[in-house]
Amino acid sequence: ETLLVTADRLINPGSERMVEDAAVLIEDGVIVASGPVSSVSAPEGAQTIALGAMTLLPGLIDMHTHLEGPSDKGRGYDRYQYAQDRATIWAVANAKKTLDAGFTTVRNVGGTFGMLSVRDAINEGEIPGPRLFVAGPPVGVTGSHCADDNYLPYDRPTTGEGVADGPWALRAKVRRNIKYGVDLIKTCSTGGVFSRGTVLGAPQSTLEELKAIVDEAHLRGLKVAVHAHGTQGIKNAIEAGADTIEHASILDREAIRMAVRNGTFLSMDIYNTEYTLAKGEELGIPEESMAKEREVGQVQRESFRNAVNAGAKVMLGTDAAIYPHGDNAKQLRVMTEFGMSPMQAIRAATIVPAEALGREGKLGCVTEGCHADLIAVSGNPLEDIQTLETVSFVMKDGEVVKGGQ
Ligand code: ARG
Repeated sequence: ETLLVTADRLINPGSERMVEDAAVLIEDGVIVASGPVSSVSAPEGAQTIALGAMTLLPGLIDMHTHLEGPSDKGRGYDRYQYAQDRATIWAVANAKKTLDAGFTTVRNVGGTFGMLSVRDAINEGEIPGPRLFVAGPPVGVTGSHCADDNYLPYDRPTTGEGVADGPWALRAKVRRNIKYGVDLIKTCSTGGVFSRGTVLGAPQSTLEELKAIVDEAHLRGLKVAVHAHGTQGIKNAIEAGADTIEHASILDREAIRMAVRNGTFLSMDIYNTEYTLAKGEELGIPEESMAKEREVGQVQRESFRNAVNAGAKVMLGTDAAIYPHGDNAKQLRVMTEFGMSPMQAIRAATIVPAEALGREGKLGCVTEGCHADLIAVSGNPLEDIQTLETVSFVMKDGEVVKGGQ
């Protein structure tokens, strides 16, 4: 099946070029040619989608979502009021919102095994949603942010599925996640904002434990995403061989240098601070978390600026669920306020994450051999990055999922 999509403009993040009067030729869901209309010859009888005064670009990628977490209910320990099945149902609804917002690929970094079914149902065309890379339950030590919960009564056991202590026990948890079919491993090497009884600057897990987690995942060909706010925990994660650092909030020069030297990707969620500070009280977020957000939000944005200036591989990862799903592109504006050009921000949401996922040349691109994941917006995102907050056309694997009539 051959399809020709045309529009007034096409942004190619790979070449950092804008093509005027552009066309993309698609065969069986894969791009076979793109460029100025005059250079792309469509075979006789190819179906055409003429978008006119719009800008086409590759579908966006968010490297840090939690589709099973809604932003309004089931937050914190409130989630104990709901079965995991309910979270899976939320994920189905949130997957559609995310895709409609122009995110054709997202990495779901930690949650339930139910997300594996959501991923598979999307892949088999049963429900709409982005292409998902799913971590399953976070792996981590007792009482650690993301893997476990603190301060619940000792006689009501609530140990997270991925909790273990010591290198071998943690390796076993990694193996268990892989056995059920996860795409990557998530762990947390420092405390976090939205957990009780954890400290942002305090490392979690020994270096030996972190290395065991990363090594075990790498043996099996999986990448590892490590949540880290504090500087020491970030350095530990890089030293252990993490592929991506999530949040990467408190970066000093040495941490940035280490990330650059090791090619470690930094997935920095610099939008959600605004949302939390504005809505926190209404949402009933505990004061412990509000205080940690106030402590880290602006610091993280300055870290972002420094990392971008130093040439680190910084990418879009929003932590959707903290704020409403579908608003993912709002982070792009903040990224341009803290040191990125619009083209850099677009690359950070396309070609850079594709590389971090090990899918360069397949995702986040508009050249021959790429999945036909395309979005279109009216206006020019290079002049106004916020045009990407209103996506009117979405195609995934050559199928139109929004707009296009
Ligand atoms: N999931 C993260 C945590 O609980 C969110 C951090 C959000 N705040 C921020 N400034 N990035 O730690």
